[in-house]
Amino acid sequence: MVDISTRLLKKRLKNPTILTSGILGISSSTLLRVANSGAGAVTTKSIGPRRREGHKNPVVVETPCGLLNAIGLSCPPLGESIEELKDLVKKSRVPVIASIYGRNVEEFVEVAEKISRVKPDFLELNVSCPNIEGKPFGVNAEISARITEMVKDSTDISVIVKLTPNVSDIAEIAKAVEGAGADAISAINSCSGMAINIETSRPILANKFGGLSGPAIKPIAVRCVYEIYEDVDIPIIGIGGIQSGRDAIEMMMAGASAVGIGTAVMNHGIEIFTRICSEIEKFM
Ligand code: FUM
Repeated sequence: MVDISTRLLKKRLKNPTILTSGILGISSSTLLRVANSGAGAVTTKSIGPRRREGHKNPVVVETPCGLLNAIGLSCPPLGESIEELKDLVKKSRVPVIASIYGRNVEEFVEVAEKISRVKPDFLELNVSCPNIEGKPFGVNAEISARITEMVKDSTDISVIVKLTPNVSDIAEIAKAVEGAGADAISAINSCSGMAINIETSRPILANKFGGLSGPAIKPIAVRCVYEIYEDVDIPIIGIGGIQSGRDAIEMMMAGASAVGIGTAVMNHGIEIFTRICSEIEKFM
């Protein structure tokens, strides 16, 4: 049998597949099911400093080539998220990545400090959600670096920064966060998009715009990972449209050390992790 284990910084992953943030919430029992179903690591939905409603329905639209979503970073109160995370960290046999967000640097630091106490294996800074008011911090190299630096100063847990493709030069942002101490990068978050109902001549999503994920964005993700890999020395988790072992291998050839699986879980269920792994083994 082929050994497809990999390393992400100091942690060994039994295989390079990682459940991406936002797909299956923060409930420990749900994430444990994924952890036990063959994923190499799991990422929580982004955890914020306080309860947040998110956007009104509809928040998801299926398109012929991917999923457009505008959930709006909904989350329960921080204490509740921490309890779920604590249980997950205690029971998971695969590394746990806690995704966090804040509305400013101080909130990122507050959440990072509190979350770090329950010792997830990694923190992932979500500076790239396209569904917030205004532009995400991740479009600005200086602000992304400042958030990274302040969070790094507040925790001894390895920090991954999740980047947005909705910029003209993603490698510039990657270099800035690497310079600020990021231990790894995940790329990419979803691509900003829109769908209109031509019967009502209204946008379908209540938020008007959403983030496109799934097969349509895979070539964008591969290009972004390749550009980042050329410019930084820290590991990259490649995310965007991966549905098969061949997609995963393509992403690793672009420079990723591991791959995030998101929309494919919605389309194919949690069995997707073992299927992708066996396809990688076969290819190897
Ligand atoms: O709308 C959302 O909650 C999306 C978050 C993200 O893409 O990071």
